[in-house]
Amino acid sequence: MMVGLPTPLLSRPVQANYEESEVPSYELPDPLVCLDGTRVEDAQVWREKRRPEILELFRDQVYGRSPRPPRELEFEVLEEGPSELEGKPLRRQVRVQLAAGVSCDLLMYLPQERTGALPAFLALNFYGNTSVHPDPRIVPSSTWMDESEEFGIVDNRATEATRGVRAYRWEIETIVSRGYAFCTVHYGDIDPDHDDGFENGVHAAFPAEAGERPADAWGSISAWAFGLSRVLDYLVQDDEVDATRVALMGHSRLGKTALWAGAQDERFALVISNNSGCAGAALSRREFGETVARINEVFPHWFCRNFHAYGADVSRLPVDQHMLISLMAPRPVYVASASEDLWADPRGEFLSARHAQPIYELLGLSGLPGDEPPPEDESWQGSLGYHRRGGEHDVTALDWEHFLDFADRHLSSGKGL
Ligand code: GCU
Repeated sequence: MMVGLPTPLLSRPVQANYEESEVPSYELPDPLVCLDGTRVEDAQVWREKRRPEILELFRDQVYGRSPRPPRELEFEVLEEGPSELEGKPLRRQVRVQLAAGVSCDLLMYLPQERTGALPAFLALNFYGNTSVHPDPRIVPSSTWMDESEEFGIVDNRATEATRGVRAYRWEIETIVSRGYAFCTVHYGDIDPDHDDGFENGVHAAFPAEAGERPADAWGSISAWAFGLSRVLDYLVQDDEVDATRVALMGHSRLGKTALWAGAQDERFALVISNNSGCAGAALSRREFGETVARINEVFPHWFCRNFHAYGADVSRLPVDQHMLISLMAPRPVYVASASEDLWADPRGEFLSARHAQPIYELLGLSGLPGDEPPPEDESWQGSLGYHRRGGEHDVTALDWEHFLDFADRHLSSGKGL
């Protein structure tokens, strides 16, 4: 186990723990006890005192502080027209400015039958908008793209060869047929996923003052979350989307991002975390699968520098990830795990949702019905939702079926209910 290891040992590769019996005993910080030791007894104290405290701790100690957004929203519709997807949804592609000189391309599909402003799913993607569907009209990405031998991506140069490669992860036709707008953006448009001194992507538009970068300056997860909020700024003024009914969905590192974006920007109506693991939905103190030490070593740029100090002793963290979920309350949160995705600690992901429950109860809402997760592939849905799909780290049709049911329950699409 990593607790108590002297710091020099942490630079050596540490064997991940996959044994439940080896999980150290731990005590979680109580989301309902304020920093001054007083207990939160009602919704007002939660809202005005404790919630801001927790949000500030995550900003300061984990993900870093984002800058203020630009005052004027600028965007340009790149393309719009009927698509050849099943049901012939309308395709709209919009370039949204994130900050001076940096923009991202938003790809949208809107159901053909529209009787009013639509609820929407918004998600970042890994390999460019072209990767989500073979639709030949999707504008290819030209920004940084994660290297991949499988997809022929060399030197982080975006390639059109990614067209459709990840289509199996996106049930676009089903989403649209159930009355939702589908919206996606390539995460590389917002910030390259590299430990490169924060000199490019949206970070570059907000250069740090001279001297050392502050220890609470924003990392890449904060940058991607910032981008999601700017996309929401655009959706607010798109008459065909109801921006009060936007469900944010993210997988893996982008699931961590979805939770952090939803915590900071209360305009997001619902958040879905898929297999987000360490620094996402999983409890850090369990040290099961990926640990805080290891994530900081391999992906230091995801976080602010203050977070790096906690790898050596995670019990010193003033927060744990159940508190990130609690920041969403009373808005609904769905956590999805996969049984073979031990790196992301499925049980730790369930327990985070479970330990966020007292906040939902304080606000008069229901949480999860039991202390143990539901049987594999079955979904629990209240204000908090959870399932553990059989299989690997991935996003499948079964995951989407549960996400759509959860969104129907809370955002009432008017279709598929
Ligand atoms: C790595 C990383 C995880 C992350 C995942 C992903 O496995 O360790 O924390 O969630 O990549 O984003 O694909």
